[in-house]
Amino acid sequence: MPECDMAGAKQKRIFITGGASGLGKAIALNYAKQGYKVCIGDVNEERGLSVLAELSSLGIQAHYLHCDITQLSDLEKAKQALIDLWGGVDIVVNNAGVAGTAGSIEDVSMTDWDWVININLLGVARGCKVFTALFKQQHSGYFINIASAAGLMNAPQMSSYNASKAGVISISETLKFELEKYNIGVSVVCPAFFKTNLTESMKSTVTGVTQRITQVMEHSKVSAEDVAQDIYNCQQKGEFWVLSHKPERKLWLLKRYLPFVFARVMKKQMAKLFAS
Ligand SMILES: NC(=O)c1ccc[n+]([C@@H]2O[C@H](COP(=O)([O-])OP(=O)(O)OC[C@H]3O[C@@H](n4cnc5c(N)ncnc54)[C@H](O)[C@@H]3O)[C@@H](O)[C@H]2O)c1
Repeated sequence: MPECDMAGAKQKRIFITGGASGLGKAIALNYAKQGYKVCIGDVNEERGLSVLAELSSLGIQAHYLHCDITQLSDLEKAKQALIDLWGGVDIVVNNAGVAGTAGSIEDVSMTDWDWVININLLGVARGCKVFTALFKQQHSGYFINIASAAGLMNAPQMSSYNASKAGVISISETLKFELEKYNIGVSVVCPAFFKTNLTESMKSTVTGVTQRITQVMEHSKVSAEDVAQDIYNCQQKGEFWVLSHKPERKLWLLKRYLPFVFARVMKKQMAKLFAS
């Protein structure tokens, strides 16, 4: 059970993978400001410890764990650490991810496919697998899975990233139906571009794409903090879809109700991004 604070209110606990940077960091700080105990897991210790210092300065209980989401054993260790520290955890955010490799289907290597699927898709599967057992024991829990608008729109030249994120949406929808009866909630987050360090992990077989995507991210009107706030609002209300970017939310509706118009709009937008 969550511990009580001085006022007797139950202090909630959150664990965030990839919490050392970008969206994971913004989610960590936002929940910390709401009074949660926060634990971040990452493979980047330097950034992780720096975020830990920021979290601790807010006067909440915070922890950093080395947690590589490609290793089931790291997630098992993280779960045990959270049980030892706090007796459990209320929210798990499967956020850690990489940008993958841009390029046409014949150019991107199967090694690169393995890399992005292993982190972006199987990392979320591992997180859900490991923490579902604990959530069932607790009779409560909440998964926030970070997918992407890429998994809904399927833009060209990004097959492996798109497939990894469409897979995250699929796992999330499956678990929403599978786990509801155990009092375990699920939200899936599908943002478009916003500024983070994501393109540090981007590979490309197409000249200039990483730079163009970095520019689009830098000029985005939506920040990591905006997405983190939407996530908090939707999770508190138990809403499944978190679609922070208004234009992409409209595009998604267009795809469902007017697919031919959607195809024309996508063709135009993607021609700009992938112009060679
Ligand atoms: N930034 C965007 O425009 C955007 C858009 C849609 C979705 N997303 C998704 O948001 C999530 C967070 O990415 P971000 O944009 O904040 O990027 P980021 O690079 O700033 O942060 C990603 C974090 O994940 C960590 N990480 C990478 N591999 C890991 C592993 N194997 N184990 C544990 N940690 C690992 C990195 O060290 C980093 O701290 C990702 O899933 C990404 O696909 C980002």
